[in-house]
Amino acid sequence: MAARAFVLGHPVGHSRSPMLHGYWLRTMGVRGSYELADVRPEGLADFFAKMKSRGFVGGNVTVPHKVAVMPFMSRLDEEARAIGAVNTIWFEDGALVGGNTDTIGFLANLDELAPGWEGPAVVIGAGGAARAVIHGLRQRRALVHIVNRTRAHADALAERFGGVTAHAWDELPELMRGAGILVNTSSLGMQGKPRLEIDLAPLPRRAVVHDIVYVPLETDLIRDAKARGHRTVDGLGMLLHQAVAGFAHWFGVVPQVTPELRALLEADISA
Ligand code: ATR
Repeated sequence: MAARAFVLGHPVGHSRSPMLHGYWLRTMGVRGSYELADVRPEGLADFFAKMKSRGFVGGNVTVPHKVAVMPFMSRLDEEARAIGAVNTIWFEDGALVGGNTDTIGFLANLDELAPGWEGPAVVIGAGGAARAVIHGLRQRRALVHIVNRTRAHADALAERFGGVTAHAWDELPELMRGAGILVNTSSLGMQGKPRLEIDLAPLPRRAVVHDIVYVPLETDLIRDAKARGHRTVDGLGMLLHQAVAGFAHWFGVVPQVTPELRALLEADISA
């Protein structure tokens, strides 16, 4: 039976992962499939009970199940434990492993598009995406300052990760003055959400500006940063790079993030 992989969510129709994995299956000539699995929270136990007999070798997990799937795993990888959420599932020696590839995706993309980047880092936002980003920044020993609408969420992350401090919004200009990289992990600037209103003037010209939002591809933050001469990194590359490890686990071959793949997704996002 050809290997089947899934993206598990609810709703899940908006996911771009089928386009991404479908491209690799097609262009690499791999026999297998990548399918939408729209499962309600109360259906998760049944889904995992039947997953193996249905020929599934693993898959991705998206909203709202990234935390809820954790009890169904035999074990969690180091990233999933640090981040507190699972985005990729595979079998190892018959046991179901829950991993998180968002940190690898974040770092691989940043290293590719802004080689030589360095801290200190200013991170805007303290949600699930912030955790993966902060974990990556800390793996590279960058000091991290978090600014978030709800101070308590930033405080909780500062307690969870060493080398991380939480700050009030009005400290942002001062924090930017000493920053090597600014990362927006909040949903501000995303299509349908309010804009991210920040004045980049205090940020040193050498600082990298990374917005993990990818709809639209060029957010106001990225446009302002480009106009000021900063190196910029948009959010699409993180999505592409986080998918590599999952595909390799399920189908046994390591796919490449190519300009053609990026163009395919860009065209879909802009459509
Ligand atoms: P994700 O998993 O994608 O990170 P999330 O956990 O809902 O999503 O986190 C969204 C982030 O965007 C949070 O930091 C949130 O701030 P709060 O912690 O105060 O909720 C931030 N965010 C969302 N809408 C916002 C808004 N209108 N103004 C400021 N921050 C906002």
